[in-house]
Amino acid sequence: MQPSPPFETAGAFAPTEARWYQGPQADAAFRHLRLEDPIHWYEAGGFWCITRHADVQGVSQRPRSFSSEHGTQLFEVRGRVPQSVQASAGPGSIIRMDPPGHNRHRKLVIGAFTPKRVAAMEPWLRGIAKESLEAIDPSEARAPLDFVDRVAVPLPMFVIADLLGVPREDHTTFRRWSDRIIEVGGGVVRPESGAAIAELLAYLAAVIRERRRAPKEDLISLLVRAEVEGERLDDLEIQGFCLTLLVAGNETTRNLIAGGALALLQNPGEREKLLANPGLLGNAIEEMLRYVSPLRNFIRCAVEATELGGKRIRAGDYLALFYSSANRDEAVFGPDADGFDITRESAPRHVAFGFGEHFCLGASLARLEARVLFEELLQRWPHFELAGEPVLLASTLINGVEQLPVVLAP
Ligand code: HEM
Repeated sequence: MQPSPPFETAGAFAPTEARWYQGPQADAAFRHLRLEDPIHWYEAGGFWCITRHADVQGVSQRPRSFSSEHGTQLFEVRGRVPQSVQASAGPGSIIRMDPPGHNRHRKLVIGAFTPKRVAAMEPWLRGIAKESLEAIDPSEARAPLDFVDRVAVPLPMFVIADLLGVPREDHTTFRRWSDRIIEVGGGVVRPESGAAIAELLAYLAAVIRERRRAPKEDLISLLVRAEVEGERLDDLEIQGFCLTLLVAGNETTRNLIAGGALALLQNPGEREKLLANPGLLGNAIEEMLRYVSPLRNFIRCAVEATELGGKRIRAGDYLALFYSSANRDEAVFGPDADGFDITRESAPRHVAFGFGEHFCLGASLARLEARVLFEELLQRWPHFELAGEPVLLASTLINGVEQLPVVLAP
């Protein structure tokens, strides 16, 4: 057992408490750990905290030693995971697989997300972005509205809906399923949550059957046809993968957009730079990913005793990879790593999408969504303003904004 530094016993370190992440104390504690005890045993939670960029990358690159099969979220440490939450990850979600099964599965689905395939989605995606912004009429744009609900939510949700072959007339139902499933992923289980998951799975099963009979040019048809060395995905695997996309690609991208907008609002000088030079948007998105880190952490479980940075890790120990801390690592991003700078050259080195074997499959898609959305937004309403206090999401997993009151056309 490692001794706990005094700051922890003083209550300044509470990574299993959602509200703790919302104040400056979290940044200060992670800074302290990166400098003093970068691989830190958190006695109260029963897991190791991996806080430096190099160590987050190092652990992520060793899936045979540090497994994803025993859980990926903090509340799963010590088997605290509710059954309904496990189900929300989908039957055999790729996120929770280890080699060699993971490699096989990833090979079968990766074709759907190649940068080339994603780049070809731009016109379709821009259409969805325009449509969602055009739904805000000029009088609404002059009054306070919630940026999250009206701007950040629709694009990622409708992109996933379209990818999964959900037609427009079913979008309202899809949003209800999507909201329930995302909540369950965050540990909020309502009486109707189980039914929502079952309804969505049944819906997907019907789409999969239909695409097997008459393939189209969409994601599910691609998954139905995908074949590597004679292997194919069965219906259950495709259903599970679709559910994973819904959970992994929706709230994360929403909060990249909402958190990125908040960063621009709180750093007007950076917004001015961007408006003066729209060519900076690509790097600005990387800086948003770094600065926001929509996913705060994922966990791994050590399958064998090993050593890491001089610490003895026992078989069965859990390790939390704090992407949010790694993305503020002074050794990579410089002494002003806590600031938001859209011209930061090192921004693309962030680990917001993870690293190594489980590197986010949707990274190109999320980047494209954010770029297109900010292009369309800043063209229409370059001077949107805050119109009240943002409400931050209380979550140990997602760095999110629940409500962001703005006036788009002040
Ligand atoms: C800003 C948005 C996003 C962020 C911050 C994000 C973050 C991440 C991270 C950190 C991982 C690594 C998990 C690990 O190492 O265990 C991951 C994996 C994954 N992400 Fe994303 N993601 C985003 C958007 C998306 C989108 C849009 C999709 C798809 C539509 C997606 C699909 C996936 C999948 C399928 C995996 C699992 C890959 C594997 O296990 O091999 N993500 N994501």
